[in-house]
Amino acid sequence: MTSPQADGVPVSMPDLGPEEADNVADAVRSTWISSAGQYLDTFEREFGRLCETEHVVPVSNGTVALHLVLEALGVGAGDEVIVPSMTYIATANAVSYCGATPVFVDISADTWGIDPGAVEAAITPRTVAVIAVHLYGHPADMDPLRALADQHGLALVEDAAEAPFAEYKGRRAGSLGDVATFSFYGNKVVTSGEGGAVTTNDAALAARMRLLRGQGMDPERRYWFPVIGYNYRLTNVAAALLCGQLSRVDEMLARRRALYATYDEHFRDVPGLTLQPVADWAVTTPWLYGLLLDDAETRDRVAGRLTAQGIDTRPFFVPIHTLPPYRGRCASELPVTARLGDCGLSLPTSSAFAPDVAARVASAVLRGLPA
Ligand SMILES: Cc1ncc(COP(=O)(O)O)c(C=O)c1O
Repeated sequence: MTSPQADGVPVSMPDLGPEEADNVADAVRSTWISSAGQYLDTFEREFGRLCETEHVVPVSNGTVALHLVLEALGVGAGDEVIVPSMTYIATANAVSYCGATPVFVDISADTWGIDPGAVEAAITPRTVAVIAVHLYGHPADMDPLRALADQHGLALVEDAAEAPFAEYKGRRAGSLGDVATFSFYGNKVVTSGEGGAVTTNDAALAARMRLLRGQGMDPERRYWFPVIGYNYRLTNVAAALLCGQLSRVDEMLARRRALYATYDEHFRDVPGLTLQPVADWAVTTPWLYGLLLDDAETRDRVAGRLTAQGIDTRPFFVPIHTLPPYRGRCASELPVTARLGDCGLSLPTSSAFAPDVAARVASAVLRGLPA
């Protein structure tokens, strides 16, 4: 494979092969380019098989997937939804779109996922749901969350945008809560440029989501709209791309795992570096390799040195409760979230990289550390 990043290393890049190009060309030739077609049917079947769920609802991106789920669950004004502050902003924004309030809690240092103890402490009579984000490919600790959800009558939603195919105690992400969302944005493990999906084993919820996704039109009666819906549909062209990606997913994950292994080998036991924890019950999805440096200054200095060598990186997410739309909403300190926000750095990760990229980047990181 040629190295498309000869002059620099992007933090991520889509891995697109002839299967994807052939499928897209086939969809175009067939003229089925809107929101029906054989690739959508195949994608639903195949993604459901891989996520071990009965129902797959393809949608236009991971953000609307979250909104669709919350709307279908009936989340609205006056409700509270517990979310981690360390996540992409879409998780919180989807709650706001419903007129509900996101309640931010800390993550656990052992998984970087939402801390079940913090969730329990944040439950009020207004709480209606918890969104467990599988952050940076690691599944959240779902059993205690399930117990809390059952005890308090809450919906348990997985935001699995960053962790398709990850496993929790032998079960696949997407099948662990009541309902789960995925993103197929260009930097994700499988991509259609923009795209998303919802998975669930709840037939009634799936039907409600299909109704809302298609402008609220009654499936039995054309141009009859019993409710206000949305246009959140995915196209058959995007699904054609996704079918190509899914046909190569084992090989793509293996390449990503090899990259992670190379990074781990270089960074393990290096003073000043903390690797992503992996719980013994987890099989992670190698989405975007992340590690923690000692403090924000060191993180930014190392990132700057890498940039100077043409190596692109990303700081971890800025804790959402510190961002302007949500500032001042969090009653307590979130120390683990703060540490990741200050010290976390994501390194280039893509199954399209040439095999030597991880070693090259890792050496540059080690050279960039303070003496
Ligand atoms: C945790 C998480 N949730 C939701 C999203 C939103 O997905 P999209 O960008 O497809 O709208 C993303 C990433 O993009 C994400 O990382």
